[in-house]
Amino acid sequence: MQRIFSGIQPSGVPHLGNYLGAIRNWVSLQAEHECLFCLVDLHAITVWQDPAILREQTRLQTAVLIAAGIDPVRHILFNQSAVSAHARLAWIFNCVSRIGWLNRMTQFKDKAGRDREAVSSGLYVYPNLMAADILAYHATRVPVGDDQRQHLELANDIAQKFNHDYEVAFFPAIEALVPPDAARVMSLRDGSRKMSKSDPSEQSRIALTDEADAIAQKLRRARTDPAPLPEAVDGLADRPEARNLVEIYAVLAGLSPAQVLAEHGGKGFGPFKEALTAIVVAAVAPIAGETRRLLADTARLDRVLREGAGRANAIAGPIVAEAERIVGFLT
Ligand code: AMP
Ligand code: TRP
Repeated sequence: MQRIFSGIQPSGVPHLGNYLGAIRNWVSLQAEHECLFCLVDLHAITVWQDPAILREQTRLQTAVLIAAGIDPVRHILFNQSAVSAHARLAWIFNCVSRIGWLNRMTQFKDKAGRDREAVSSGLYVYPNLMAADILAYHATRVPVGDDQRQHLELANDIAQKFNHDYEVAFFPAIEALVPPDAARVMSLRDGSRKMSKSDPSEQSRIALTDEADAIAQKLRRARTDPAPLPEAVDGLADRPEARNLVEIYAVLAGLSPAQVLAEHGGKGFGPFKEALTAIVVAAVAPIAGETRRLLADTARLDRVLREGAGRANAIAGPIVAEAERIVGFLT
């Protein structure tokens, strides 16, 4: 059975992009894989996080993942900082990875923006830590949204260079599992930017904890263009906002974009947004409700994470100890 690893940063409330690009697949992959799902708090602090809010978000995300269908008993759900193997292997990878490789990372360029000199050094070496997350478990399949592809190519480069430099066949190749549709859900306010937890506008995203009326209001105000919906998929080519809403609809309704347009093409956005609201509410409301219920018992959530970390550590500890031995550390 192949081992799955994936992570999400506890830096805000998970949104519809996280759900369609990642969490939804995590849930279905559980049937046939051994899975580890990680709240990557070490990654989160690469940009400033208020300590009290970080703690709260870590619990909230734990609740959202369980509410969405992650099974913390048959699989492993934990927070990254609780398993020291991640940081230990990340340090080794800082010394395997090349500055030139990191310089090509588009996510760093996006996140650092014009302020490259002022961002944390952690943000720069972030992809090395991500490689360590996966390879500390010898995981081979990594379900992520489209924005993480480049990081996974880098992880493969690191694994290969480690194997080559130390003349071992220790780290396996990893495969990105990116969904065929909705792997890149865009902001509701700007079809050229991805939906993101860190966007200052709440209106830009549907949180997985949103109530029905918030969802309706955000979709009503979602940016669109004045033309009616096109009759065919090519008509979406230069209309990123329309394409985004049609893709969300299609994935949640289990239809192709062409089928959605067969029904809604030629109509205005008003009635389409109403139909979309019903579909999004049907997907999100049960998660939001169950999340609220789970959050009432934070002691249980903390226990889930602690137990998960213990089991994660039992897998990663020996693998990272072996990596340290290969490198020549006296252990
Ligand atoms: P993050 O929110 O950056 O911690 O991402 C957690 C997971 O959600 C990763 O697998 C991302 O690729 C995925 N993801 C984040 N934002 C989006 C988005 N707008 N559309 C699709 N997938 C996304
Ligand atoms: N970098 C990922 C993101 O922001 C989160 C992440 C950290 C991750 N470590 C990982 C995803 C390992 C998959 C595997 O979306």
